[in-house]
Amino acid sequence: MDFMEYFSRCKMRFNNWTPPRFQHGKLNEYNWLVQYPENLVLGYMTDIGAFSYINAKYGVVIEDFVQIGSHTSIYSHSTIDNKKGPVKFEKNCRIGSHSIIMPFVSIGKNSIIGAFSFVNKNIPENVLAYGIPVKIIRNLTLEELKQLESDCE
Ligand SMILES: CC(C)(COP(=O)(O)OP(=O)(O)OC[C@H]1O[C@@H](n2cnc3c(N)ncnc32)[C@H](O)[C@@H]1OP(=O)(O)O)[C@@H](O)C(=O)NCCC(=O)NCCS
Repeated sequence: MDFMEYFSRCKMRFNNWTPPRFQHGKLNEYNWLVQYPENLVLGYMTDIGAFSYINAKYGVVIEDFVQIGSHTSIYSHSTIDNKKGPVKFEKNCRIGSHSIIMPFVSIGKNSIIGAFSFVNKNIPENVLAYGIPVKIIRNLTLEELKQLESDCE
């Protein structure tokens, strides 16, 4: 099974999506956690894996159909290096498990970030990127984009 088929199958789990409920600093029913949930905008059909952490103090926007693998950490405030800034995930982008997303980062529509990536710069739409630090590997093919966009219908 190639990775497009795999991601596509992940999407098929949601027939009756309902927005998760969350409280500051507490695991929600899917076992992920958000701090400052009042500053989180969460889109329709978003899928966030267990043990992910979102610090939304300076704003996090997760647009419709975004998928975030388990154990991913999203920081609008990174206290170790005192970086502060909004984070944005554009429609239908996918983030591999165990990735770290730093303040001021925006990830473009449909783009795929590989597992274990350190994402410290903006990623444009329609690309595959991964690594520590993240690097753009290639543009997604038309066939891959067609498959990804069919998940949003
Ligand atoms: C990035 C990704 C989508 C690429 O998939 P793919 O195109 O099938 O890639 P391949 O497995 O053929 O690997 C291609 C090359 O990239 C490397 N590579 C793949 N993913 C990588 C990653 N996340 N970080 C670093 N290198 C990676 C491979 O080692 C391989 O290198 P090589 O050519 O030197 O051997 C996939 O590897 C990935 O990370 N998927 C996320 C899975 C995940 O997190 N699932 C849980 C949430 S649903």
